[in-house]
Amino acid sequence: MTTGMLREDALKDKTIIVTGGGTGLGKSISHYLLELGANVTICSRRQAVIDQTAKELMDQTGGRVLAVACDVRNPMEIEHVLAETIARFGRVDGLLNNSAGNFISPTERLSYKAFDTIVDIVLRGTYYFTLAVGKYWIENKIKGTVLNISTTYATTGSGYVVPSAVAKGGALIMTKSLAAEWGKYGIRLNAIAPGPFPTKGAWDRLFPEPLASMMDPTSRIPLKRVGEHGELANLAAYLLSDYSGYITGESITIDGGEVLAAGEFSHLERVTSEQWDMIGESIKQANKASKKEGQSE
Ligand code: HXC
Ligand code: NAP
Repeated sequence: MTTGMLREDALKDKTIIVTGGGTGLGKSISHYLLELGANVTICSRRQAVIDQTAKELMDQTGGRVLAVACDVRNPMEIEHVLAETIARFGRVDGLLNNSAGNFISPTERLSYKAFDTIVDIVLRGTYYFTLAVGKYWIENKIKGTVLNISTTYATTGSGYVVPSAVAKGGALIMTKSLAAEWGKYGIRLNAIAPGPFPTKGAWDRLFPEPLASMMDPTSRIPLKRVGEHGELANLAAYLLSDYSGYITGESITIDGGEVLAAGEFSHLERVTSEQWDMIGESIKQANKASKKEGQSE
């Protein structure tokens, strides 16, 4: 179990909005932000889910949580979250764009609406929320911070999750572009690209049966395990805190080395020690032969 790495009051007096904060990673990160002294607004489509989470988080941490229903595809609902947060906590300092929709499917099986649904939640939702909060920060001269939860395939691309890859890729470029443009206001934007961190939302849609029984998601990860929520929460809290004040436009991968395992020769970990002996010998013989050839020329 990972322990928190920041000082207890690292986020004291900060107010952070966490989209999709009722479940999964958003909930775990919110828990840690509260432990660090932040006020947190969680929002998502299902009011009952965020109400229940808000209660749990307040009971567990003694912190202050506001739950406001919001579909991130709707700018008016986003404005409402912002207004309610300011009314309750006085201001907003941070935004964690964490809401997402995703499922695996061969792309040719997708309807237009299926593609739009994912892109609208992930890309449109991220830029709508960022625009609303950014305008408020610029107008009120607040040096706010945005953190976007991305994926490793936002940069590599990936089959079978193409709408999500398209949307996460777009959101990542927005992160970098706005970091360049809004730096002059003291606004920072960063991203985290997580590998697999078990959550019900992701596992139901990305590793459903019979897939779950057919493959072990840890087998191709160099560190041979999935991530712990606390590991991600530590990184997220750091990037939302003033300790990361000189980092902007950056995406930090936290995946146990999973993307690197795609490297040309990384699959050679399956070769046994005896096979390496034979391979070494074979390469040396080839080297000798090539030297001899050179001498006889
Ligand atoms: C093909 C599908 C489908 C599937 C839905 N659709 N599921 N098409 N295969 N498995 C199609 C529907 O038929 C419909 O198109 C369109 O998508 C919209 O579906 P709705 O159910 O009406 O949409 P909605 O109620 O808005 O739900 C959105 C959702 C749902 C994305 C489809 O799964 C959801 O609410 N997800 C939220 C949580 C989530 O996805 N969490 C996982 C994040 S994990 P038609 O044309 O039929 O009307 C993640 C990280 C990945 O992002 C990295 C891991 C390592
Ligand atoms: P999750 O629990 O399903 O979280 C997704 C959240 O998004 C839910 O709380 C959902 O709440 C909310 N949401 C969906 N559509 C929304 C909408 N239209 N408006 C507002 N909120 C909406 O899954 P998770 O694994 O924690 O994912 C969290 C983030 O991590 C996502 O950005 C995901 O892409 C990213 N990520 C996860 C993993 C992983 O391994 N788990 C890996 C890489 C990246 P409602 O249904 O109530 O709206």
